[in-house]
Amino acid sequence: MRNYILFCTCLAAASAAASPDSVQQRIHSAPFGRAGDQSVQIFTLTNARGIEARVMTYGATLVSLQTPDRQGHLKNIILGFDTLQPYLDGVPYFGATVGRFANRIAHGRFTLDGKSYQLALNNGANSLHGGNRGFDKRVWQAQPIDTPAGAALRLTYMSPAGEEGYPGELKAQVTYRLNDDDSLAIDYEATTLAPTPVNLTNHAYFNLTGDPGQSILGHVLTINADRFAPVDATLIPTGELRPVAGTPFDFQQPRVVGSRIGDEDEQLRIGRGYDHYWVLNKKDSASLTLAAVLTDPGSGRVVEVRTTQPGVQFYSGNFLDGKPVGSGSAFKHRTGLCLETQHFPDSPNQPAFPSTILRPGQLYTQKTLLIFRAS
Ligand code: GLA
Repeated sequence: MRNYILFCTCLAAASAAASPDSVQQRIHSAPFGRAGDQSVQIFTLTNARGIEARVMTYGATLVSLQTPDRQGHLKNIILGFDTLQPYLDGVPYFGATVGRFANRIAHGRFTLDGKSYQLALNNGANSLHGGNRGFDKRVWQAQPIDTPAGAALRLTYMSPAGEEGYPGELKAQVTYRLNDDDSLAIDYEATTLAPTPVNLTNHAYFNLTGDPGQSILGHVLTINADRFAPVDATLIPTGELRPVAGTPFDFQQPRVVGSRIGDEDEQLRIGRGYDHYWVLNKKDSASLTLAAVLTDPGSGRVVEVRTTQPGVQFYSGNFLDGKPVGSGSAFKHRTGLCLETQHFPDSPNQPAFPSTILRPGQLYTQKTLLIFRAS
């Protein structure tokens, strides 16, 4: 049974534009099962046009996202499950908040202020997406917030010093805000008690057809980047930033995702498709700039991604193989694609890449905005 959230007076007062009725309709919660001895809640956020985002406290995960096609029909545009169990059994980061460090760190090793750290290795010889039990597998504390722009959910996780090998207690916060202008803002914040690398992202797999049985190869993608980071055989960046011009990695103009994915290309072969980091064209590092535009020509659904992050990992769902995921249904090869806005992979080991080190007294902030429309 769904329980309406009772807002305290201060939260309701913060919502200048919303009447008490609309407050109750914009966000509500329900129990979503248990992860060990912790209970998990799911929150449903809706906006004025009926767009709906569901977020659960396990992994601060975006479970579903319903947006209209050109006829106004709402469908879920991300891969996910209606129950908690498949997530507990293990899914490849569906909709999850990924941390403490998204993407790979070579050999799970780095040196910081003269001290060496060894992380858990969970991806061959490397550490991937925070290790064996990253932020995607933790229960976050949730606080609903109503704002004039839309309903929001703030999730907080305290990552203890030494967790998965990372130094320093880190307080991480992610806020999802579903705006009435048909956009979803994902804001990240973190503070630490000791220097540590931090790289947070969301790992939603988009399938804008609304039918997870269909391939994403017909989607049309634009990426606002003139360079990408080639990788070695273990998917660690080589350090080179290569111009995309004249390669299958050039998405500067709208391109069909599947049109070049089978090309004879060493980087496509290593990635088994697209699984690379694009460096966004940015005037200044902190501004919210265009990262990507994804379109499904069939339904007309469009998602535009803007971010303060320096780049985006475009992953074309190459490891989805049609085998059941978790205890849930099967997701076939390339039925979802990820646009993970984030810092450069393996930054702690790559002196030429921008620093991802957060120090005590500093505030880590990043923002990604997903804008929904139909054409
Ligand atoms: C990331 C990685 C991929 C893969 C997926 C999860 O996006 O870059 O190689 O590990 O996560 O399956």
